[in-house]
Amino acid sequence: MSIIYTEADHSITLQTRDSSYHMAVDSYGYIRHLYYGKRLEPEDLFYLYRYYDRAFSGNPRAAGTDRTYSMYAVCQEFSNTGVGDYRIPTLRMKSSDGARIADLRYVSHEIRNGKYALPGLPAVRDEDGDAQTLEVILRDEPSKLTVHLLYGVFEKKNMITRAVIYENASEKSIVLEKAGSCCLELPYGNWDLLHFHGRHNRERAPERVPVMHGVQAVGSCRGMSSHQHNPFIILCDRRATEDHGDCYGLMYLYSSNFRAEVEGEQYGSVRAVMSPGDETFCWRLQPGGQFTAPEVLMGYADGLTRLSQQYHRTIRENICRGAYHLAHRPVLINSWEAAYFDISAERILKLARQAADLGIELFVLDDGWFRGRKDDNAGLGDWEYDPEKLPEGLDSLITGIRETGMLFGIWVEPEMVNEDSDLYRAHPDWALAEPGRAPARSRNQLVLDLSREDVQDYIIGFMTRLLTEYDISYIKWDFNRSVMDVYSRLLPAEQQGEVLHRAMLGLYRVLETLTTRFPKVLFEGCSGGGGRFDAGMLYYTPQIWCSDDTDPIERLTIQKGTSFGYPLSTVGAHVSIAPNHQTGRSTPISTRAAVAATGAFGYELDLSLISAEEQEEIRRQVQQYLEDEPLIRQGLYYRLGEETEGMDAFSWLLVSENQDQALLTVVATATHGNAPLIHLRFKGLDPEALYELREEGLKRSGAALMNAGYTLPMLTGDYPAFRLHLKKVRH
Ligand code: GLA
Repeated sequence: MSIIYTEADHSITLQTRDSSYHMAVDSYGYIRHLYYGKRLEPEDLFYLYRYYDRAFSGNPRAAGTDRTYSMYAVCQEFSNTGVGDYRIPTLRMKSSDGARIADLRYVSHEIRNGKYALPGLPAVRDEDGDAQTLEVILRDEPSKLTVHLLYGVFEKKNMITRAVIYENASEKSIVLEKAGSCCLELPYGNWDLLHFHGRHNRERAPERVPVMHGVQAVGSCRGMSSHQHNPFIILCDRRATEDHGDCYGLMYLYSSNFRAEVEGEQYGSVRAVMSPGDETFCWRLQPGGQFTAPEVLMGYADGLTRLSQQYHRTIRENICRGAYHLAHRPVLINSWEAAYFDISAERILKLARQAADLGIELFVLDDGWFRGRKDDNAGLGDWEYDPEKLPEGLDSLITGIRETGMLFGIWVEPEMVNEDSDLYRAHPDWALAEPGRAPARSRNQLVLDLSREDVQDYIIGFMTRLLTEYDISYIKWDFNRSVMDVYSRLLPAEQQGEVLHRAMLGLYRVLETLTTRFPKVLFEGCSGGGGRFDAGMLYYTPQIWCSDDTDPIERLTIQKGTSFGYPLSTVGAHVSIAPNHQTGRSTPISTRAAVAATGAFGYELDLSLISAEEQEEIRRQVQQYLEDEPLIRQGLYYRLGEETEGMDAFSWLLVSENQDQALLTVVATATHGNAPLIHLRFKGLDPEALYELREEGLKRSGAALMNAGYTLPMLTGDYPAFRLHLKKVRH
């Protein structure tokens, strides 16, 4: 049993293998949060809170003249609104009389085997058959707003999921202005916030800042989870390192606007709230109506590395789906940086033949293949091949590519439309825009209104035709602008605050339909690289193009930041040409491959532009990748950043779960004359075992490699990479 109810103190304990989460109902009916951290057996933890008269604080009326129960200071599973809890709210609502007060009290709870369902939303699946559900029901009596707190406990995975269902049990409508998915409180301690910010071409850079007194928030108001802020935060003890210290993660399975807020309050506790939408969010709950706030995947671990590894495994095994989620992903070549819009059957076939000869397994025809798509100003919406570029048709091109032995994949951007397209000419009302106001453009395109069912059905229709008529094994699903002009013509004025969430539910419906209809197709998500790199999208697309920046030195930071939450199997990474198209930097092809091989691997360059030696090098790289791929996809990932701090190098390690194999990669971002050598210590090996260090021709014990460590040879030249394969030769 991973959920335990103890009658004596009305407490509920959620147990995972290494962690415990403890809550209890107090005498006033508030559901108090008491503990989350290293595993404990259930016991009465109310002693942790000391009651005393705190000035300027709300006291529950039922307390009479007892002034020691402070609504402001108790930690709660769900915040109250308007009754003295002045911290960031999980809920903001407006009753039919205009009141904004919700005093939510415990009504009941239920413990069930299996995981609760969240129809229409991405959610962690109970793959291991060991999940349990806790549902706690709270109610505000005057307004009859009922809140269902959902917890899914994944004991083996050491993870807990959270979601909230808001229900209007009154006869009048209630407006939700903020409808959070979870509230996590840390009663004591000194905490840092680790979040992942960026921009196009520089996604998910880790930034660790002390939690301050006051509110810190990251989020998106772009209609996508965004390049700027990832919907994943970590709260860690100020002293926490990769190896030790309390670390908590909150990851959203949601791909649209969100807010992750953290507040350090006056007595030192910290509250974190994750909610969908931004300030413009507003949802009208009709009598009897429900609103489901998306799921959060929450984890606790001792040390950042272990926390990341817990997320990696859960995403890989319990979030990603489809034929490919646990399988080998084909090494691909993508036409974008090879040809951009300058596509012809001849050019594509030439590239495909060269790629197939080097052992590449999948050809991806990127943007530019469809009618009217001479550049990025026109064509989106008209998803038929361009007869000028492909006079013999798409089918004939695919046949040519399939004859090389490769699979075929294609790029689409279904949620968008160019005004210069037949689709827009036929359905101008399908784009988001307020009547009477010409919508702003971005990349000269508009965003389709996916809150409309007819628009969803149109996308399902053309994608079904594409995937049925042609021999397509892979889809790259792109989304190349932020959303603005948020207005849907089908919704009444008072529901315009619902458009973006409805549009996201629309996209999830489209993706659910297509991935169910075509379970063998590998879908790769993309949004100008990693603008929608989140666990919500990973439920439908088991890999996502990590960034449009293919420069390996830039990718070091991008992929390192991504690794805090997301497994390597989800990280689309390609070798491109030098000088790099984004930065103009030249790096050795071995370094480009070492970095790209830390992900779902591929190439994206014109193979005619490189030397015969480099082509041979690619042949070897593909072979090497195929050999290493199970380790890359499934291995335990260790960032070794703390080991090489100040050494102008990035280093990371993969160790197979049975500790039989490991792969060390080090990339130098600068080299120096007479430099100190890089020394690092391995992690996660079997101390008793003897390992062969392939590139060294040496055998050393796991104990020596982890304790005494390993000194790298001198790294010279521009941006050199070093890789070392370890294999257990004796136990
Ligand atoms: C986005 C993607 C690129 C490429 C272009 C095509 O920017 O991230 O990989 O597909 O669109 O327009």
